[in-house]
Amino acid sequence: MNRLLIIRELLKHKKFNHYLEIGVFNGHNFFRVKSTFKIAVDPYFRASALRRLFKTLLNPFNLYNRYFEKSSDDFFREDAPKVFADRMVDIALIDGMHTYDFVLRDVENTLRYLQPEGVILLHDCNPLTPEAACSYQDWERRDFKGVWNGDVWKIIVHLRSMRPDLNVFVLDCDNGVGVVTRKKHGSEMLGFTQEQISRLWYADFDANRKEWLNLQLPAYFYTYFGIRPPGSL
Ligand SMILES: C[S@@+](CC[C@H](N)C(=O)[O-])C[C@H]1O[C@@H](n2cnc3c(N)ncnc32)[C@H](O)[C@@H]1O
Repeated sequence: MNRLLIIRELLKHKKFNHYLEIGVFNGHNFFRVKSTFKIAVDPYFRASALRRLFKTLLNPFNLYNRYFEKSSDDFFREDAPKVFADRMVDIALIDGMHTYDFVLRDVENTLRYLQPEGVILLHDCNPLTPEAACSYQDWERRDFKGVWNGDVWKIIVHLRSMRPDLNVFVLDCDNGVGVVTRKKHGSEMLGFTQEQISRLWYADFDANRKEWLNLQLPAYFYTYFGIRPPGSL
């Protein structure tokens, strides 16, 4: 299971059709999503006009894509009120700048435009090494730029501590896919303040990963959303 399969299953079974992706890179994921309305936000797209055209030929759903070549903060300030005036977001993939402060703003801004049954997915919630969880500055300095998950994991701890109105868990696949919905049922909260969370280290996380992330096997996705897994009778 990975983020694309999760998005595809939600689009298919929940009759969703309005997709937002923050942090698109070359569109590897974005262009393969089959949704009538798709919004891409990235300050630096690695997808030329030619690639966009080619991807539209492969997947006609790309015909009505809207591209905002700017930071998510600028998008939410300058464009979002108009873009989402008539149609709220069904699914958002937040995969832009992988730091606590940026992702927190992205989640809070997205929640303003998320329809009541909508779903926010957060990529990179489960770093497996301290290197993958390092700061942006350290990652920039490194010669070898491998997987960088940053400290997106702190958002999960944050939401699970401070947002009793949400259900939050992480699927143990694809670098950890966080799932955020409005509350459907009671769930255990954590008790951290924002100040405490900013002072947590990777070692703290590593010792408490399963509990803090509310880490779930990929199959939990089907249980949570009441979707029949592919291949089951
Ligand atoms: C890991 S890539 C996204 C991968 C893509 N979502 C996928 O699944 O194939 C991260 C992207 O976030 C973008 N990014 C960095 N800062 C951002 C910001 N403030 N707002 C939106 N996107 C940002 C980068 O330019 C980069 O293209």
